[in-house]
Amino acid sequence: MTSPSDTERWKELDAASYDGVAEAFDRHSRRLSGKAAARLTELVQVGPSDRVLDVGTGTGLLPFSLARAQETPASILGIDISAGMIETARRRLHDELHDDARVRFERMDAEQLDLADASFDVVLSAFALTHVPRPELAMREIFRVLGPGGRLGVAVGSRPPMGTGAQVRHAIAEVGRRISQLRGRRLTADLLDRIVERRIGRSVEVPTGAPLATRLDRAPLLRELAQDAGFVDIDVSWRNYQNQIESADEFWDLHRTIRSDSRKRLLVAPPGVEAEVRQEFMDECRRTLLRGGVMTFPISVVFVTARKPDRAS
Ligand SMILES: C[S@@+](CC[C@H](N)C(=O)[O-])C[C@H]1O[C@@H](n2cnc3c(N)ncnc32)[C@H](O)[C@@H]1O
Repeated sequence: MTSPSDTERWKELDAASYDGVAEAFDRHSRRLSGKAAARLTELVQVGPSDRVLDVGTGTGLLPFSLARAQETPASILGIDISAGMIETARRRLHDELHDDARVRFERMDAEQLDLADASFDVVLSAFALTHVPRPELAMREIFRVLGPGGRLGVAVGSRPPMGTGAQVRHAIAEVGRRISQLRGRRLTADLLDRIVERRIGRSVEVPTGAPLATRLDRAPLLRELAQDAGFVDIDVSWRNYQNQIESADEFWDLHRTIRSDSRKRLLVAPPGVEAEVRQEFMDECRRTLLRGGVMTFPISVVFVTARKPDRAS
């Protein structure tokens, strides 16, 4: 287990790494995660009377999608630990929703929510719990702020759950994609991580150890976290979204913004390293495109829904 100072350092670095890319993140998350966000809100069946909390809201992907839905919830609060992300979410709220009073964004730590007990009907969280060093604390906080019968919907990037039909179907679909990768005709979401690992390796210390961050099949741990917090009716599903990217510049910007581990490593790398990494990245894209290959950024997502018992003990 990590010590309290490790976890605080982790949070500071994670938040700082998002502060500088908030505008780019906003663009990419709308394109890449929009479908997953829509599925999450569908699974939870958010209704017009619901008071909704979005944990790790980023630039507000879920709140904006809910605010534009036919049946907008009664209120939507998005919280995030990164000041830059909250600033961008508030700018969007002003520009796109004319400061709709039903929507608010606050800077807050998921491990310690500054919110009253039982003050929400629905808590959502997309692609955020993998960043929280002690997700068990976040899950307990989420449980606390939900009222009796309150609904939970969590999405995080994950491999398909082991031993499921989804795993078999995904493995079959991956065969052709892996072959074109090996032939140098397909680049995918691990390109920047590979280059950063080779160039920076372990010389830059990045805090590790958060259980959800280090695991790739995240469904069992999420289920366990929800169960331990007291949730019932836990349901797990999984989807894979393929995204083809047309230009090398956009592919770079996407990796640089979304790949969290590389983003943190580049943030603390010596001056000049990022330019070298970018050059190598662009060279590899050019070679692949010259061979007639493609650049893809697939996202695999596990969705967990659950309910707080009607009469919580
Ligand atoms: C990958 S982004 C997802 C953002 C948004 N939910 C989306 O899907 O576009 C992860 C977000 O979690 C936030 N985050 C990380 N640790 C957090 C914590 N301890 N408390 C609150 N937010 C946190 C980050 O600042 C970042 O905005």
